[in-house]
Amino acid sequence: MANGAPPSTRRTFLAGTAGTLAASALAGSSIVGCRKHRDAITFGLYAALTGSMADFGTASRNGVTLAAEEINAAGGLLGKPLYIAIEDTRGDSAEAASAVTRLIHIEGAVGILGEVASSLSLAGGRICQRYRIPMVSPSSTNPAVTALGDCVFRVCFIDPFQGDVMARFARQTLGFSRVAIFKEQGSAYAVGLADAFRRAFLGLGGTIPTEQAYRSGDTHFSAQLGTILAQNPEGIFCPGYYTEAALIAREARGQGFRGRFMGGDGWSSPSLVQNDDNQLVGDFYSVGFAPDGATTDIARRFARNFEAKFHYAPNDLAALAYDATLAMSQAVTRAGAPIPERIRAELARTRNLDGATGLISLNDHRDAVKSAVILEIHENSANYRTTVNP
Ligand code: PHE
Repeated sequence: MANGAPPSTRRTFLAGTAGTLAASALAGSSIVGCRKHRDAITFGLYAALTGSMADFGTASRNGVTLAAEEINAAGGLLGKPLYIAIEDTRGDSAEAASAVTRLIHIEGAVGILGEVASSLSLAGGRICQRYRIPMVSPSSTNPAVTALGDCVFRVCFIDPFQGDVMARFARQTLGFSRVAIFKEQGSAYAVGLADAFRRAFLGLGGTIPTEQAYRSGDTHFSAQLGTILAQNPEGIFCPGYYTEAALIAREARGQGFRGRFMGGDGWSSPSLVQNDDNQLVGDFYSVGFAPDGATTDIARRFARNFEAKFHYAPNDLAALAYDATLAMSQAVTRAGAPIPERIRAELARTRNLDGATGLISLNDHRDAVKSAVILEIHENSANYRTTVNP
């Protein structure tokens, strides 16, 4: 199809990097270096391309890029090329807010894609809500994200469901009755997922002998792990992100923990199995999509095209970012004009969108209701174990 692309679409993948312009510098109309892409329809992607969550940004950018290239190869949107402007959040909330501000005011984005981490989507979503620019988070699962207001959508499930899925898996599939929680404090995602897991696991008759917390960026966990191990739990549920999860597993095994680790989608990264020193082999985490469990034509085609372009297999994040781009694009097409308010109204009407991660319908809370997949960790990969429907 690439040969059929109009020539104007060929140059649409210059990533926008407006740099470190402060948000305060954007007030007023005389924006130096304003480079709105007048002949294109611009979506802004904000993602962590550097820092401890950099794998999230890479996966999202690749998923969005593949979708945009396919859209442009098929003629673009409303006869114009689709341009993706990209800003690095560095995994930081304040940076996420200014990234979104730049995307809207400097790049002229009519729709925003991102973030991955819920705390960053909360920061960016507030900006979208203020300027009434529609935002689709591919993968932020904390309920508060879309509760920000009518401009904020997501194409993934939410954590009350994900927590329930992992609690059932621990209680019913693994047969555990004692599971400790070790969460990242200060991340909306981890705290919310811990709450959801606790509620569900207790509801199923399990006990949580202790609940401990760490901070993003911590590298030593022995004090909290000592407290946890003293309770002799069968499993440790660890809501947080992949960088710390790999370190926690190594340290816990070093301290003699032989039970199972369990996590949520925040573990989803190729770095997890590279950095865990095989200490997570046989452990489990939930995600929204697994290419090796994919059964639909579009999922298989997505995985094939992604691998052909990037030379590695896509994960859930890449697929969700692809689907977020489809949702925004289809809303633009239905809106008939690149007008944010109309795109927003059409996004709210998203029903049965045939995405790589499955059929996507957005409910009244602007959330997708979708299945979860549980992955089992092996030496060099995490592989499909089972699907859990809502
Ligand atoms: N769900 C996580 C959050 O809300 C982000 C995430 C999703 C990370 C999917 C990896 C994969 O913060």
